[in-house]
Amino acid sequence: MKIRPAVEADLPAILEIEQASFADPWRLSAFREALTPERSILLVATDPAVVGYCVGLKVADEAELGNLAVVPEHRGRGIGEALLRAFLASVDAAPPLPAVYLEVRASNAAAQRLYARAGFVPAGVRRDYYEHPREDALVLRRPPGSVGG
Ligand SMILES: CC(C)(COP(=O)(O)OP(=O)(O)OC[C@H]1O[C@@H](n2cnc3c(N)ncnc32)[C@H](O)[C@@H]1OP(=O)(O)O)[C@@H](O)C(=O)NCCC(=O)NCCS
Repeated sequence: MKIRPAVEADLPAILEIEQASFADPWRLSAFREALTPERSILLVATDPAVVGYCVGLKVADEAELGNLAVVPEHRGRGIGEALLRAFLASVDAAPPLPAVYLEVRASNAAAQRLYARAGFVPAGVRRDYYEHPREDALVLRRPPGSVGG
């Protein structure tokens, strides 16, 4: 398994994983915009086909993890954790070290454990943030320079 920046040819596979993973999937255009590396980071895990991706952005001293997903048949192999750590390494690579934020469904225990291991702590709740089903989002924050466990 390898992790590398995504290219245009990866977009169909990314969209397929997105649609298999989320009730309200992002559109193709959102991923296409994230290919422009000025502020965005779009990484794929390959084995050798695309088996997962993560997308986010860094603006000054704040970064946001927008989405992270792994092909259902490949979950539980550490790919999600590897993608998260690659994203954090990427946002930490150039100063300033950012605080990193993300939102996660209140019921998504597997993802929350993954984020806690990487140093994320609760920062707030967005009531009824998600639809299908309607659910709160937990806002998690990784303090600047935190290396995670
Ligand atoms: C969250 C997600 C990206 C984790 O990816 P992953 O490659 O399974 O991650 P890891 O292998 O590092 O495992 C993370 C945790 O998920 C568990 N897990 C999730 N799905 C699993 C599966 N199908 N089989 C086995 N374990 C699974 C792992 O056991 C592990 O739990 P632990 O923390 O108690 O050890 C993946 O489950 C996914 O794509 N979920 C749907 C999309 C999603 O919820 N994304 C996060 C939105 S904020």
